[in-house]
Amino acid sequence: MTPTIHILNGPNLNLLGKRQPDIYGHDTLEDVAAQCAEIGQAAGLGTLLRQSNWEGQIVDWIHEARETAAGIIINPAALTHTSVAVLDALNTFEGPVIEVHISQVHKREAFRHHSFVSHRADAVMAGFGIHGYALAMRHMAHLLD
Ligand code: DQA
Repeated sequence: MTPTIHILNGPNLNLLGKRQPDIYGHDTLEDVAAQCAEIGQAAGLGTLLRQSNWEGQIVDWIHEARETAAGIIINPAALTHTSVAVLDALNTFEGPVIEVHISQVHKREAFRHHSFVSHRADAVMAGFGIHGYALAMRHMAHLLD
């Protein structure tokens, strides 16, 4: 079976492309899905991109990933800075986890500087725009090689 990377996205990222384009750019989550799928295909990896505005849904998808994912790429969005529940869920996952932020969070408000998820993430991308997801996919392929 083809190993699959789950690409999980938190609150408000359904509006990517429309939401504060000066910060997050004009590309959409569909563009992200297409780029990740292309990179995955070349590396022999499947991809499944999901987005939810609900913390519990993200937790449930991480639990599902325990059984079905070779690795997780996650942009927890605002949950990055608030959610011990998402961190605890990721701590139950045994494969590689890469945290992605489209914006350079360390250049922004102080409340964005702390990430609960970084306590678990094996790598963190911030400030690469949506290209950060593509870079994370390439690194994931390297980690799973
Ligand atoms: C974000 C950064 C977070 O601080 C913010 O709450 C988001 C998106 C990013 O991708 O840059 O919603 O994770």
